Amino acid sequence: MKPKMSKGDKSHSLTQEKLEMFRFLEGWAEENMLTFLKRVEDSWQPQDFLPDASSKSFTDEVQDIKARAEGIPDECYVCLVGNMITEEALPTYQSLLNSFDGTRDETGVSMKSWARWTRSWTAEENRHGDLLNKYLYLTGRLNMKQIEKTIHYLISSGMDMKAESSPYLGFIYTSFQERATFISHGNTARLAKVHGDVTLAKICGTIAADEKRHEMAYTKVVEKLFNVDPNTTMVSLADMMRKRITMPAALLYDGQDHNLFNHYGAVAQRIGVYTTKDYGDILDFFLERWRVGEITGLSPEGREAQEYVCGLAERIRKLEERAHTRSMNKRSQMMPFSWIFNREVEV
Ligand SMILES: [Fe+2]
Ligand SMILES: [Fe+2]
Repeated sequence: MKPKMSKGDKSHSLTQEKLEMFRFLEGWAEENMLTFLKRVEDSWQPQDFLPDASSKSFTDEVQDIKARAEGIPDECYVCLVGNMITEEALPTYQSLLNSFDGTRDETGVSMKSWARWTRSWTAEENRHGDLLNKYLYLTGRLNMKQIEKTIHYLISSGMDMKAESSPYLGFIYTSFQERATFISHGNTARLAKVHGDVTLAKICGTIAADEKRHEMAYTKVVEKLFNVDPNTTMVSLADMMRKRITMPAALLYDGQDHNLFNHYGAVAQRIGVYTTKDYGDILDFFLERWRVGEITGLSPEGREAQEYVCGLAERIRKLEERAHTRSMNKRSQMMPFSWIFNREVEV
């Protein structure tokens, strides 16, 4: 029996002709996408930011981390941990990239440029969760077992990217997501600095810079898709926006709080790590970057999609104003977070 799909689900929406096109674009990806990757020998590694466990000064350095950690409020830790857990679910994201028709790594060692990108992107991203996990562990402020359980649950649950195995939808999604993480890590960097932990600020800032570089690569791919196939790309952008870009950690659960993602999201919204305004701003940024409003020669379906996405940023902004007014009138509520030993944080 076939597994049941939810209403509106499609998979493998790419035609043979489009598959050919992605094959044809391999040379382009080699010259325009792979160039955004860094050589291993030139790359930072988590150990560059961590105390060396083999050195005599290790215990003193850990004490310094713990001392600095005292100055960071719990609400920041909720966001840092949520971001770290999102990074740690990397196996899910690599699996999804390898679900895209025409660009997946067919063998695990494929030398095709799309496949090489996916493996190297994963390797670069792998440092993010690794570094945040090790550093945050050393602060001594966190219930690591609860955090580890959350990661375990999240990877087991997966995520619904709604990309239908299509690289059009998929690369639009990854463009948004890289920019969202760039914003979010950039904001935790700023907060860490304000609260006196310069090392943590540097860590979050370094990760944010990676996200920016990845955003540039994915954005360039979508720009190319708009050039070679404006109709499908426009319709895919509208489709993705109608479905709304879901966050990778939407299925967050720690074994206690069934609404954990919303509670983490509310804290991120309140302290400005990632807000509904950012979502609208990201859309605006890409509409401008891909010159979506200026694309001509579209089919009626393409034009309808163009009209929809171009009017969407304004609609998001209105919704966001309403949500903001509602949240201003809402009585604040305290929520315990298991990640910080059930200490309570305002949501
Ligand atoms: Fe990342
Ligand atoms: Fe990323």
